[in-house]
Amino acid sequence: MSKLALVTGGNRGIGLEVVKQLSKAGIEVVLTARSEDKGLEALASLGSNNVKFHQLDISDRESIQQISSWLENEYGSLDILINNAGINYDKWNKAINPNMENVRRTFETNFFGTWNMCIALIPLLKKSDAGRIVNVSSGAGSLNEMIAEAPGYSFSKSALNGLTIQLAQELKMDKILVNSVCPGWVKTDMGGIMAPRSLEEGASSVLQTALIPSDGPSGGFFRDGAPIDW
Ligand SMILES: NC(=O)c1ccc[n+]([C@@H]2O[C@H](COP(=O)([O-])OP(=O)(O)OC[C@H]3O[C@@H](n4cnc5c(N)ncnc54)[C@H](OP(=O)(O)O)[C@@H]3O)[C@@H](O)[C@H]2O)c1
Repeated sequence: MSKLALVTGGNRGIGLEVVKQLSKAGIEVVLTARSEDKGLEALASLGSNNVKFHQLDISDRESIQQISSWLENEYGSLDILINNAGINYDKWNKAINPNMENVRRTFETNFFGTWNMCIALIPLLKKSDAGRIVNVSSGAGSLNEMIAEAPGYSFSKSALNGLTIQLAQELKMDKILVNSVCPGWVKTDMGGIMAPRSLEEGASSVLQTALIPSDGPSGGFFRDGAPIDW
């Protein structure tokens, strides 16, 4: 039986390319997007018969509850959760004088939204015999690599990395492997046109961790399948 994956923020950028690559790998995919119109447009652009669309805004608890019930009724389990949705590389913010409301909004999606997704879907991942959670993080959140730039975004990804470590330990007995991935600096709306990496390269970095075997690592931080510093 083919595996089932769910990708958040699947209507554009790295998320859409991850959906495309998973589908090509023969995995059934639920492409999710906060806008129904944009999600359906992305779905149509793929022309794949193993991809379905469902609306999902990860900053909205009700929307998360709805997709979790829909998955339960439609499939009964989930194999791969790709927490890709993310916002706001806040280059204009400074740690000494931030727009704190803006920082909080960033955390609401990048950290709390992703955490709520994990909480809601872990019961379905436990029903898989090879559950995987991939948190799409960023080198910007690495405490070792961190520079004084985009504080709200960077701290939200550091917190996300902390979530990866704790979930990996708590889910060890359930054989659910949980890892963070940095896709590198990728040409997307967020990454901008100066980014050196293509969508294919960024998505492939995410896929390498999504498709690790059962004896693969858990609680790590990877780029292109190789460990990187926290
Ligand atoms: N690009 C890079 O260089 C780079 C580097 C390191 C890490 N990353 C990470 O990679 C991931 C994807 O980035 P990207 O470059 O592809 O960004 P992007 O082009 O800006 O796309 C972001 C995606 O997230 C969705 N999204 C935002 N808020 C959401 C919410 N509340 N609920 C559901 N979906 C939501 C967006 O939907 P809408 O279309 O509705 O806005 C869009 O589909 C992010 O987590 C980002 O932090 C990117």
